[in-house]
Amino acid sequence: MINFKNKIVFIVGGSGLVGKKIISKLNKLGCKKIHNFDLKTHKFNNSNRVMNHKIDITNIENFNSFLKKKVNKKQLCPDIFINCSYPHSKDWIRNNFKSVDHEDYEKNINLHLNSYIWTTKLIIEKMKIFKKKGSVLLFSSIYGVVAQNNNLYKNNKLNENFSYPIIKNGINGGVKQFAAYYGKFNIRVNAICPGGIINNNLKKNIKFINNYSKICPMGRLATPEEVANTAIFLVSDLASYTTGTLAMVDGGWSII
Ligand SMILES: NC(=O)c1ccc[n+]([C@@H]2O[C@H](COP(=O)([O-])OP(=O)(O)OC[C@H]3O[C@@H](n4cnc5c(N)ncnc54)[C@H](O)[C@@H]3O)[C@@H](O)[C@H]2O)c1
Repeated sequence: MINFKNKIVFIVGGSGLVGKKIISKLNKLGCKKIHNFDLKTHKFNNSNRVMNHKIDITNIENFNSFLKKKVNKKQLCPDIFINCSYPHSKDWIRNNFKSVDHEDYEKNINLHLNSYIWTTKLIIEKMKIFKKKGSVLLFSSIYGVVAQNNNLYKNNKLNENFSYPIIKNGINGGVKQFAAYYGKFNIRVNAICPGGIINNNLKKNIKFINNYSKICPMGRLATPEEVANTAIFLVSDLASYTTGTLAMVDGGWSII
């Protein structure tokens, strides 16, 4: 059985679509404390175990000072670290092949890829120092494994994104690199690679949903619940011999 009693969780992006689901599940499964680091706070049901920290995770110095101050003994060190944030620049919508410029490309590599990698490095070092049997899960995407299919963006308002697959490939590389080094310290590091996840905004974009469903072997997008379920498995002891994996939660998108 999955047992999260006594587990301390740090999650980045826990107020988002998937993050909220993960926190609700971890809360129900009895985690001792869940620290949510996000630009916005979210009020969870029965939330006495959830602590919201309103921070910009891309400010690495701030996060490092927080860790230095607050994670100074084993009892305060996380057993589980999840990053499901989606940091990006204001011009993100223009980050396609036609409109992207070097400045915006570089900015997004820094905001998303570099913040994922460096926060992970800081947290894992804490886990190592306090001899935690740690579990880390970084959110990647199908686009960390395959390129974008341009047919998806035909006849609808969405564009391909130039930088996103490069960022997610980088995260997958980081996951393997961390997993290889920290395995001997009993710290597991995995990536989850979801396909498109349905949300209220996307539901209005019928053309995109149709295009997506035609390409995807399972004929539909994922629900946030389905993605969160795999996340729970990967951070739990049920996955105690799973490290360095890129878990595809994509209805078969990446096999064709
Ligand atoms: N939604 C999808 O279809 C989909 C598909 C594949 C992969 N993913 C990946 O899954 C993860 C979660 O996606 P989601 O749909 O839940 O995203 P979301 O946008 O709903 O949530 C992301 C959360 O990150 C927070 N955030 C953004 N910038 C931040 C910053 N600088 N500091 C702190 N918090 C910040 C936001 O406030 C938000 O609560 C992301 O990494 C995304 O790339 C999503």
